[in-house]
Amino acid sequence: MLKGKHIILGITGSIAAYKAAYLLRLLIKRGAEVQVVMTPSGKEFITPVTLSSLSGKPVVSEFFTANTGEWHSHVDLGLWADALLIAPATAATIGKMANGIADNMLVTTYLSCKAPVFVAPAMDLDMYAHASTQRNLDMLRSYGNHIIEPATGELASHLTGKGRMEEPEKIVEILDRFFETSKPLSGKKVLITAGPTYEKIDPVRFIGNYSSGKMGFALAEACAEAGAEVMLVAGPVSLKTNHSSIDRIDVESAEEMYRAVLSEYDRSDIAIMCAAVADYAPETVSDVKLKRTGEDRILRLRPNPDIAAELGRRKRPGQCLVGFALETNDEEMNARLKMEKKNLDFIVLNSLRDAGAGFQCDTNKVTVIGKQGEPMEIPCKPKIEVAADIVDIIGRYVSEDR
Ligand code: PMT
Repeated sequence: MLKGKHIILGITGSIAAYKAAYLLRLLIKRGAEVQVVMTPSGKEFITPVTLSSLSGKPVVSEFFTANTGEWHSHVDLGLWADALLIAPATAATIGKMANGIADNMLVTTYLSCKAPVFVAPAMDLDMYAHASTQRNLDMLRSYGNHIIEPATGELASHLTGKGRMEEPEKIVEILDRFFETSKPLSGKKVLITAGPTYEKIDPVRFIGNYSSGKMGFALAEACAEAGAEVMLVAGPVSLKTNHSSIDRIDVESAEEMYRAVLSEYDRSDIAIMCAAVADYAPETVSDVKLKRTGEDRILRLRPNPDIAAELGRRKRPGQCLVGFALETNDEEMNARLKMEKKNLDFIVLNSLRDAGAGFQCDTNKVTVIGKQGEPMEIPCKPKIEVAADIVDIIGRYVSEDR
């Protein structure tokens, strides 16, 4: 969960500072990018050289570098961060944070930080229990900061009592859980259709289309990455899924897709219909291979169920239904008509007139049209990136009060 996350690790002057090196290593191992910021007294307990060699970045502790005069911007640091973790946090630093006493780089960074803040106090029991420390911690809580309670348990009570900094493994676990549950689709169940459908004519022939499934599979990955549990109903494609939060039902025909989707829809919060479903299927399917006769042959077709329209009819308040439209002309008007007719919340329009868009290719260029607001254009880029943008839009929509 910490992969690619930008974390500022603030280290203050406590004997527990030696554990910060291990904590830093754990964060880096989990894929986080870490910038260490130390208070002047933090440097008395552990050297910046150890920390900068572990993080691969120079440690920041002063407002500017003495010999070059280079200014360290606490504002830029605060904007860069996905989280600020202060571990160990002394009573003095906690007091300064609570009261806005910005007399060092760490507290200054804290005051300009927009990201969530985690504070792991480290001190002896009496200092920790003191009314002043407790009041300051309460103030930090009231600012929305997360206090990582000091370690308890046998070891802690034998040695120094409650006040000892929580173990690095536990701190990393807390951050991990925080990022997991703060993802835009965490706790959501998403149903996705992908690929073409094949409508059998006889044992060797079918009616199909050019859909490769790439767009739908990219959406499944992007939703899983955003914290959702995904059920992917896939037509006949040769693609694999990678994410452990993706379950998959493979189908061939529109009728099979319809049944699979309906069996999953009630437990879904979001449904994204990306499949290119055949609108018609042969009325009869021959058991044997049809022979060439030299005569004209008439294939009678019957309409397939419209899966998205049926979901639109069954949609509960709070459920979000997204359709796709691949158009060749009057694109926006046709897409809007489909959105209306199928009772969709959004329709994602791709046009065969755009280079690098639509079937088969690894890129797409789409316009996301909602019932309200201006259409949102997503420029031509890899389908996985387009999918991430679409998921972003859906994530914002489902988090709104509707
Ligand atoms: O798979 P790729 O090669 O990556 O290509 C992606 C794609 C081009 C197939 C995809 O981006 C896309 O546009 N899919 C929808 C294709 C389409 O033209 O759909 P439609 O206009 O026939 O249908 C509109 C909507 O109703 C779609 O959400 C479709 O899934 C749904 N539908 C249509 C017919 C039907 N019987 N049941 C449905 O659910």
